Amino acid sequence: MQNHISKNQLFDVFSTVNSKEIPFINQEEYLVNGAFKPWNGSFNEIHSAICKPTSGEKLERILIGKIPKTGLPEAMECLESAELAYDNGFGEWPMFSVEKRISHVEHFVGEMLKLRTEVINLLMWEIGKSEKDSEKEFDRTIKYIYDTIESLKKLERKSATFTIEEGVIGQIRRSPLGITLCIGPYNYPLNETYTLLIPALIMGNVILFKPPKYGCLLHYCLSKAIEKSFPKGVVNYLYGKGSEIVEPLMNTGKINVLTLIGSSKVASDIKKAHPKVNRLRAILGLDAKNPAIVLENANIENAIEECLLGSLSFNGQRCTALKILFVHENIKDEFIKKFCEKVDALKFGMPWDEKVQITPLPEENKFNYLNDCIADGESKGAKIMNENGAIQNGTLFFPAVMYPVSEGMKLYREEQFGPIVPIVSFKELQEPIEYMITSNFGQQVSIFGTDTHEISHLIDGLVNQVSRVNLNVQCQRGPDTFPFTGRKDSAEGTLSVYDALRSFSIRTVVATKENKDNKAIINKIVTEGESNFLSTKFIF
Ligand code: G3H
Repeated sequence: MQNHISKNQLFDVFSTVNSKEIPFINQEEYLVNGAFKPWNGSFNEIHSAICKPTSGEKLERILIGKIPKTGLPEAMECLESAELAYDNGFGEWPMFSVEKRISHVEHFVGEMLKLRTEVINLLMWEIGKSEKDSEKEFDRTIKYIYDTIESLKKLERKSATFTIEEGVIGQIRRSPLGITLCIGPYNYPLNETYTLLIPALIMGNVILFKPPKYGCLLHYCLSKAIEKSFPKGVVNYLYGKGSEIVEPLMNTGKINVLTLIGSSKVASDIKKAHPKVNRLRAILGLDAKNPAIVLENANIENAIEECLLGSLSFNGQRCTALKILFVHENIKDEFIKKFCEKVDALKFGMPWDEKVQITPLPEENKFNYLNDCIADGESKGAKIMNENGAIQNGTLFFPAVMYPVSEGMKLYREEQFGPIVPIVSFKELQEPIEYMITSNFGQQVSIFGTDTHEISHLIDGLVNQVSRVNLNVQCQRGPDTFPFTGRKDSAEGTLSVYDALRSFSIRTVVATKENKDNKAIINKIVTEGESNFLSTKFIF
């Protein structure tokens, strides 16, 4: 077990920075209309989640790059480029055969793989993700792309046929939706962004892509692979302040799809800016406050292990994280004691340190929010239960376990998205159930128990409150073939390797009366391979 941690110890781990080569990405261009356009205006500085000690014994975030501070004119130029590429559905990309689009994506994966080391390094420096998790994020994304290609091939094979019903011959396929505005999150800047961008692209849409605020440099690196792999204007990069460019882009009414992982407030404000909301498809991953319900008869060791992983992997910065634990009153003392011991033993350090679990946080001002949550809880009767809870220095914040948390405290309802674990004890099962019914969120829940009667009751009711009920295991998104969605303010649309292909496209039919002349026309088109849509070509 780790003994009491001091602020000085947290300070000391930052000194290993001195032995590392610090990256610096000087981005003076951005990809628009198929080419890198030089930028001569002002720039935004990008600081790392990682600090370095200064001469005055202070810690300051390290400058690791700069990106163009573009504005509305450049955003509109990106829109124009996307419009040209899509050309109302008559553009090269939306009219390509699926096979051709797949070959471009395959080329892209080849280019992306060459950038693996650089991207993983940037994940560590930009958002403080551990090396192991950064590697996992990259490799999981590559697998996601390959799985997407396979899934699309299967879909295509099924569509390579005609249906004849009531004297009508039809071929049913999926078509793109149009210009897609894609905004990724900072916590999985690569994986979650690409689980939106790749299916949208492969289905024939064209993209306006706004990289996340933290995790943007790795996208500059990847934009070089994008430039080499796709026709011009198919992917265009937006920089600059979201609040200055996104609403005006939506106001044009030219955006057909909004896809983002972020807050429900931001998503709904963006949607409202579209003059014809009915024309806008939204595929959104939003807020969540997934609870764990630890029942009296739970295997306590397993529950503790899973709750630890669920609440504190990547410092609690996962949308699927367990953000509140409901523990039965009769086991709460044992649970809290053992849980706190495990939390206090978590290894803190730099992302490249072996087996590190607690790493620097990327968000500016995050500490103010976390400390506010703790102070608010304390003023209303909760306490930090673990010895090392909330010890902080630089950008390292050691996790705090708070108990007893109750209605009226920020930690009870707000999504803390960071290293604080609120615990509530309950007597009656109805208490966590009521919490979930009255919650604004409906992504997932974890139930820990062994009583099948109690578990079944919870499963049957809670599947109508959330979109995934996890039994004796933490909440999570994977495997990526499972549907990832949510109710209430937690999501719109469904993502998974298979579902995303459907989310980013629309079923479309070519139909004709079954008569001799029409059959001859169809036969000729199909036999001579004249159309990419009307085709029975089997894709291998
Ligand atoms: O931030 C939300 C991510 O989708 C979580 O994915 O459950 O695989 O960590 P994960």
